[in-house]
Amino acid sequence: MTTIIKNGTVVTADLTYEADVKIEGGVITEIGPNLSGGTELDATGCYVMPGGIDPHVHLEMPFMGTYSSDDFESGTRAALAGGTTMVVDFCLPSPEQSLLDAIQMWDNKSTRANCDYSFHMAITWWGEQVFNEMETVVKDRGINTFKHFLAYKGALMVNDDELYASFQRCAALGATPMVHAENGDVVAELSAKLLAEGNTGPEAHAYSRPSQVEGEATNRAIMIADMAGAPLYVVHTSCEEAHEAIRRARMQGKRVWGEPLIQHLTLDESEYFNQDWDHAARRVMSPPFRNKKHQDSLWAGLQSGSLSVVATDHCAFTTEQKRFGVGDFTKIPNGTGGLEDRMPMLWTHGVETGRLTMNEFVAVTSTNIAKILNMYPKKGAIIVGADADILVWDPEKEKTISAGAQQSAIDYNVFEGQQVRGLPRFTLSRGHVSIHDGEVKTREGHGKFVKRKPNAPVNAALSKWKELTAPTPVKRTGIPATGV
Ligand code: URP
Ligand code: ZN
Ligand code: ZN
Ligand code: ZN
Repeated sequence: MTTIIKNGTVVTADLTYEADVKIEGGVITEIGPNLSGGTELDATGCYVMPGGIDPHVHLEMPFMGTYSSDDFESGTRAALAGGTTMVVDFCLPSPEQSLLDAIQMWDNKSTRANCDYSFHMAITWWGEQVFNEMETVVKDRGINTFKHFLAYKGALMVNDDELYASFQRCAALGATPMVHAENGDVVAELSAKLLAEGNTGPEAHAYSRPSQVEGEATNRAIMIADMAGAPLYVVHTSCEEAHEAIRRARMQGKRVWGEPLIQHLTLDESEYFNQDWDHAARRVMSPPFRNKKHQDSLWAGLQSGSLSVVATDHCAFTTEQKRFGVGDFTKIPNGTGGLEDRMPMLWTHGVETGRLTMNEFVAVTSTNIAKILNMYPKKGAIIVGADADILVWDPEKEKTISAGAQQSAIDYNVFEGQQVRGLPRFTLSRGHVSIHDGEVKTREGHGKFVKRKPNAPVNAALSKWKELTAPTPVKRTGIPATGV
């Protein structure tokens, strides 16, 4: 089957030009003027861009005594409706569980995906088995990213010795370690203190996770990655302190990437002080929303290139699930949605306002992460031979975001009532028209797993620590006798 996208303007991370795009067998086979000979999709007045890639989602994730409510079917349907054509989920082994068994569980869940997907592997415990299995995960399963939680003490958190060991292993395997950077020990202390003082509401969640805990953990992870000779991807960067650490590392030549979320860019901490408990609890996530100073820092990072990727950390819980935490904020399941809204919200608040160019928009929503995750130009590109994961974007199309009209399975939307301008006319998943002007034509099970190769070694040459790993004893002339 041949499809031609006609009369649009192609926008990639580095070019803007008028051309038609031909698709055959799910890949782009020709780009140029006046193409014909297939089903035509009219892109007049639209931008033809690489589909969005959301590298940070949690679909049907077991967490805090429940499961996140969007599964691979509803989650990828929501993604496509908003112009995202690929998601990367976190495979999360339970304590002592084999990494390979955990992947099998994620394989089973993801068979219903409507668009392509990949996994990151979380290192939730450490031992010889994990060390050994990491090699199979990279070489046989095509997963080249390992996530570490420095928060969630007593659950997912790893300690610094484990972090250092795992980062070294990543470096040896050509994998990229990732971190959720918040100091879990300090968060646990602050949470206990707040509860003891009678602060039980959702606003206490924000007090328990000030920007310092994120700044500290980000700095620590960067330093440990440097000692291990590994690159580092910092997920959900939400504050200036963390951004500052990432900026500094990049200035020093380190491969460190920061990932702000669309929620942190557009929503602030005042949400937690809403009189309505449900309103505040629905917005409980880690790190929490922050103030304008931090938001400005994140936007500046996207503009200057010190922050590389905009994600969602889509981890959607219903109001009923959020109410597990009535009377104790630490039991409110952490997470918010955003998969369907990331692209229109970033376009509206980024491109429409003049903060980002269209090309920068493509870079931070698709191309940069395709490169970081080693799947460019199969993904993240409009180029002959690339997968036809394509977004035909209508910059004039508007809507008011509303839970009543969303694809996500939950009963609210953190962006409720926001007006967005810029929406998909067509979203194509490997050539399949999955969305046409708001009409959902997704195909359950159409999505395929994307394998990713290991990286070329980076950072190893920069690490100062390397000079210390093979110490030579000093030859001394006079050694005093012991006990003298
Ligand atoms: O609050 C959040 N972010 N929930 C999802 C799990 C995580 O920390 O990414
Ligand atoms: Zn996290
Ligand atoms: Zn997450
Ligand atoms: Zn089809």
